[in-house]
Amino acid sequence: MERLRLAGVASISLVAVEDGDEANTESDGVVGHILFSPVTIEGETSSVPALGLAPLAVVPERQRGGVGSALVESGLAQCRKGGVEVVVVLGHSGYYPRFGFRPAHLSNLTCEYDSPAEAFMAIELQPRVRAADARLVRYHRAFAEL
Ligand SMILES: CC(C)(COP(=O)(O)OP(=O)(O)OC[C@H]1O[C@@H](n2cnc3c(N)ncnc32)[C@H](O)[C@@H]1OP(=O)(O)O)[C@@H](O)C(=O)NCCC(=O)NCCS
Repeated sequence: MERLRLAGVASISLVAVEDGDEANTESDGVVGHILFSPVTIEGETSSVPALGLAPLAVVPERQRGGVGSALVESGLAQCRKGGVEVVVVLGHSGYYPRFGFRPAHLSNLTCEYDSPAEAFMAIELQPRVRAADARLVRYHRAFAEL
């Protein structure tokens, strides 16, 4: 993540902050984080505004409390507002479909990384007629160094 930040390619970065007691601001803290950074979709004649969701993390003590969902939903809302057309994610196939992600091959997208087919998912945020040819998604090179 630091490499992406240093490379200046972090596009949308959100944190979830827990409100503490008003009298005790020291109990405020970051309990979750999500990052969306640019990916390249090869084979398109014009460039498609597309982001990759990674990483998403919630501190163990606050997992299963809706923090992760709130981060994904706020992030996708910002993506929509910003004109992003496609968001891809390489992650748990039991988690992301609830937000509208579908297996990316249904959008003719394949991942540059070797991964189980069901783990690479995509959500198309703007209606647009798409080419039927398979297109390869490339993450920023900083990911290859993780
Ligand atoms: C995955 C993660 C971000 C989810 O955040 P969260 O705040 O716990 O999630 P929410 O409270 O919004 O949602 C809870 C739901 O997610 C499901 N869930 C949590 N982790 C999951 C996982 N690894 N695989 C599938 N489902 C998962 C829970 O079963 C629960 O489902 P339910 O609503 O049907 O009961 C969080 O558990 C986490 O940080 N895990 C460790 C890091 C990680 O795995 N990151 C994701 C990489 S793809």
